[in-house]
Amino acid sequence: MPARIFNAVKTEIASTSSPNERALAITRAVALLQAGEIVALPTETVYGLAADALSATAVAKIFETKERPHFDPLIVHLPGPDWLEKITVIKGDARPLIERLATAFWPGPLTMVLPKTEWIPSLVTAGLTTVAVRMSAHPIFREVVQSFGQPLAAPSANRFGRISPTTAADVLEELVGRIPLIVDGGSTTHGIESTVIAPRGGVIEILRPGPITREELESFGQVQFRNSDKAESPGQLPSHYRPETPLMIVDDITAVSVPQGQRYGALLWSDVPFSQTFVESRRLSPARDLREAAANLFRQLRELDHANLDCIVAEAVPEKGLGIAIMDRLRRAAHR
Ligand code: TXA
Ligand code: MG
Repeated sequence: MPARIFNAVKTEIASTSSPNERALAITRAVALLQAGEIVALPTETVYGLAADALSATAVAKIFETKERPHFDPLIVHLPGPDWLEKITVIKGDARPLIERLATAFWPGPLTMVLPKTEWIPSLVTAGLTTVAVRMSAHPIFREVVQSFGQPLAAPSANRFGRISPTTAADVLEELVGRIPLIVDGGSTTHGIESTVIAPRGGVIEILRPGPITREELESFGQVQFRNSDKAESPGQLPSHYRPETPLMIVDDITAVSVPQGQRYGALLWSDVPFSQTFVESRRLSPARDLREAAANLFRQLRELDHANLDCIVAEAVPEKGLGIAIMDRLRRAAHR
């Protein structure tokens, strides 16, 4: 599918450790975006691959670079709340809920799917009449989008279907030779992608669970999970976030028996000690904190994927609060 010749671009990582480096990195990122290029930027959830959201040719590069199918729409990141009504249509009865949610969670990891205006090229939304919008809380992302002065389309900075990147090194592994610049903002805070919702009347439908939990949304209205069979969040495919190594989810990790001669690794929630069962293991959260577990999830999956294993066994986490988003990602990672 990709028309581009990959490995043709030199990919640089721009450090932001000192104030000088940071300012330089932001200036370079903005200049590249203004030239219609794509740039990887840190957000508070996962690293994003950003392009000018109002330019169909710039956005087309995102699809090519990620090898992303055109039926999967992108999230648009706003420079500020004043942009919301330039690119979305807010009907009178929907306004109070949308405004309350934006006030409570923006900037932050909440994405709202709303009817779109003509400003957004249909490539961004895969031809849908709605657009997904959010405002990132990451200081580097905010500075870039504000100094760019227009919305940025930015999906996660991984090749399609693979594990989302939570460090600049992860992005490099995914997109080396395909993009000119990765701005290094260190590890992302949440470690999983934003919660995607569609506010409908007084009802909040969750299309993708994430860092803003059902419980947090419940004080704003009735909340329901969208049945994933419905095609409305097209990116929510059953197989996604996939490591190269087969992944299996179990409720009882102590019951796993490893076939003779095979190398199994474990992604653990409990603190059961293992001697010989697994050749590699990672513990999502020694403190059994779901927030910490989410932040570690993709990095640990990637580490286990590098360990030359025959199988990764992931222990199910409690399916409440952030555990719902973690199990959503694990199930898609396990789906073949
Ligand atoms: O945290 C995040 O949201 C990250 C950072 C980089 O901002 N971005 C991200 O983008 O996860 P992406 O493209 O990997 O996921 C976008 C999700 C997909 O599941 C897509 O189907 C859904 O949002 N989406 C986008 N536009 C939509 C629309 N108009 N209607 C329904 N779902 C939509
Ligand atoms: Mg993604």
